[in-house]
Amino acid sequence: MRVTLLQAYELLINGDVVAVPTETVYGLAASLNRPSAIDRIFQLKGRPQNNPLIIHLSHVSQVSSYVNQYPPDFEALASTFWPGALTLVMPIIAEKIPASVRAHLPTAAFRIPQHPLSQKLISQTGPLVMPSANLSGKPSSTHWKHVTDDFGADFPILDGGICSKGVESTILFYQEERWSIIRLGAIVPSAFLPILGYEPQIEKPKNGEAPLCPGQMYRHYAPKAKLVMAKTFPIDGKGVIIGFSDRKYPSGYRVLNLGKTSDPNTSVKKLYSVLRQLDVEGIVTAEVDIDFPQEGLWLTLAERLWKASTQGVVA
Ligand code: TXA
Ligand code: MG
Repeated sequence: MRVTLLQAYELLINGDVVAVPTETVYGLAASLNRPSAIDRIFQLKGRPQNNPLIIHLSHVSQVSSYVNQYPPDFEALASTFWPGALTLVMPIIAEKIPASVRAHLPTAAFRIPQHPLSQKLISQTGPLVMPSANLSGKPSSTHWKHVTDDFGADFPILDGGICSKGVESTILFYQEERWSIIRLGAIVPSAFLPILGYEPQIEKPKNGEAPLCPGQMYRHYAPKAKLVMAKTFPIDGKGVIIGFSDRKYPSGYRVLNLGKTSDPNTSVKKLYSVLRQLDVEGIVTAEVDIDFPQEGLWLTLAERLWKASTQGVVA
């Protein structure tokens, strides 16, 4: 059920949960000051308690009430990329943030979203926690209808149109005197070079160790359909391909297209809709054309596809 900005505000300050648009993906929002609403987010999503939430702010000065000290380059990162698709994980003053939000970690994640509706809303409500507005493990929502598909027709949603980025924020974490990327996202690693003087390393979970980004432990973004990664397609093959509009595929295939091979922005923006489309149509298996460069935003696309695939095997 679509609600107005005023209704969204009233629901949130009264301790309800509302779906809110951001430029990355829709979020399931609760006020940081409403513990029961925060608990409800975990229940609604079926989200494990050990997966912390991002705190969304409307102004950078708000961070100062949660941290003792900014890590190096925090101000430069914030002034360059906020509002926007960057999340920064920092050590915090633990008692200032509910343990459920930070999953009992000594750190918390912060972001200032850019979407005008989320900005306006947060400036009225104060800090909101917002995980992506999808059932845990499923593809994220980039349109209000996706939220309805997951949480029902009566669930309150602030309609902000199609998310302009369509993929989650990039998450940076400061450790051992450097920022590193603990989740790939809408901002590419090279964008940080001019600000930091180095390109942050992409952290991969190490064998047997808990990942720095707890969400990386779980299968994610996954449709019911089995996804099979492929670079070639037999001439007599048939079925469904998630592919590109400027490529020719054998005639037996139906193609769900992610846009052109020259335009990764469009491909990441369309990804979750296409993955959700598979389930709407009850498609059991889809092949995915992964013949694209392993760089820039394509890396984010590759990572999402990898996590969404049942078996994660490149064929
Ligand atoms: O673009 C986005 O970031 C969206 C929109 C709604 O803002 N939000 C989003 O939230 O993607 P979620 O909950 O789906 O993913 C947040 C990720 C999780 O993988 C979580 O483990 C990680 O952020 N995270 C949150 N707090 C953290 C912390 N203190 N340390 C490390 N990772 C953290
Ligand atoms: Mg998510």
